[in-house]
Amino acid sequence: MRFAIIGCGVVAHTHAMALERLPEQTLCACCDILPEKADAFAKKYGVPKVYYDYRRLLDDPEVEAVCVCTPSDLHGEMSVAAMRSGKAVVCEKPMEVTVEKAQAIIDAADETGAKIQCIFQRRLLPTARAVKKAVAEGALGRICLAEADLKYYRDQAYYDSAGWRNVCGGAMLNQGVHGIDLILWMLGEPVKTVFGFAGTLARKTGVEDTAAGILTMESGAVCVIKNTTLAYPEFPTGFTVYGEKGTVGFDDLGLNIWEFTDPASAPPRPEDVPEFSQKAPISLKPYYGNMHAYLLQDLADAVREDREPLIPPREAIRAVRAICGIDRSARLGVPVEF
Ligand SMILES: NC(=O)c1ccc[n+]([C@@H]2O[C@H](COP(=O)([O-])OP(=O)(O)OC[C@H]3O[C@@H](n4cnc5c(N)ncnc54)[C@H](O)[C@@H]3O)[C@@H](O)[C@H]2O)c1
Repeated sequence: MRFAIIGCGVVAHTHAMALERLPEQTLCACCDILPEKADAFAKKYGVPKVYYDYRRLLDDPEVEAVCVCTPSDLHGEMSVAAMRSGKAVVCEKPMEVTVEKAQAIIDAADETGAKIQCIFQRRLLPTARAVKKAVAEGALGRICLAEADLKYYRDQAYYDSAGWRNVCGGAMLNQGVHGIDLILWMLGEPVKTVFGFAGTLARKTGVEDTAAGILTMESGAVCVIKNTTLAYPEFPTGFTVYGEKGTVGFDDLGLNIWEFTDPASAPPRPEDVPEFSQKAPISLKPYYGNMHAYLLQDLADAVREDREPLIPPREAIRAVRAICGIDRSARLGVPVEF
C-alpha cells in the first residue's frame, strides 16, 4: 500500500521508520504546513512527493493511505477528508480532542466504508493482552478495582516547544490517553459514571498537568486513574486489576503481580504462554517503533481482507469520552453520568 504522512513532526519519524520495516508498504508522499519541515523529512526518508497543503495531497490518486500525525485537534478534519477522498487512514492518538469531533470520524468511516486504524500501540503489549484475557474469561471473578498509574515528566520546555501542546488537551489527552485507553480496553465494559479532578499545578500552560478520575463501570467495578506530567524523573506506567479471585498487574517493564486465590485453576503466567511470551525486540520505549509497524501493516491487511482494523474508531473514542468526562466533572465539581 502506498502511504503518505501528514504532519512531519516528532511522531511522523516513528511512522516513517515503521514503513521502512514493512517490505510491502511504501511511503510515497509527505506533507507539512511548514515547507522546511516537509522538505527535510522528505530528504531524510527519500520521500518522492512533498506537499504543503494536505488537501492537495488528498487529491493525489497515488496515495492510498494517510498517517495523520498532526496536532490532536486536526485529526478529525484530516481523517474525515482523507476517508472522503477514498484513502485508508492511520489516526494518531488521541483520536480527537472532543467527543463530537471523534464521533464525526466514526460517522465518516460508516458513511464511506473507509478503513481507519487508530493508534494505541500499548494494546499490543503481551502483558496487557494477557490481563484482558484473564478479565474476559472470568479468571479473576468479579472485578472490584482497577488502577492506572500514569506518571510522566514533561518540563516547561516541552510545553514551550509547540503551541498546540498548550491548548489541545494536557496530561490526559496527550500522555495519559494511552493508559486510559488500555485500562478501559482491559476491563472491557462500559463506563457508568466519572468523578474527576484536573488542574494546572506547576507548568505555565493552558492545559492540565495533573488529573485524577474515579470511574464506575457498569458492573460496579471502580477504576482509579492517576495522571500527571510533573512526576520526576518519570515512572513506568502501571496497571493493576483486582478481582474476587485474584490480582494481576504490570508496568512498562513487565509483570508485577499474577496471583490467584486458587493457584490450581489460575491462568498460566503470560511468559509461559507462547501467544504472550513473544516480546518485540524493543529498546527504551517499548511503545515506539515495532508496534506502529504492526498497526500500519494491520491496516493494509484490513483493506486487502475487507475487515475492520485492530483498533477501529468506535473503540478509540472510549478514551476521549472518559477524559472529557473527567474534565467535565472536574469543572462542575460533581460526578457525571455517561
Ligand atoms: N503514539 C504515540 O506514542 C505518539 C507519540 C507522540 C505524538 N503522538 C501524537 O501525534 C500527534 C503529533 O504529535 P507530535 O509530537 O509529532 O507533534 P509535532 O508538533 O512535533 O508535529 C506536528 C506537525 O504537524 C504539522 N502541522 C500542523 N498543522 C498542519 C497542517 N494544517 N497541515 C500539515 N501539517 C501540519 C506541524 O508543522 C508539525 O510539524 C499528536 O496528536 C500526538 O498526540 C503520538
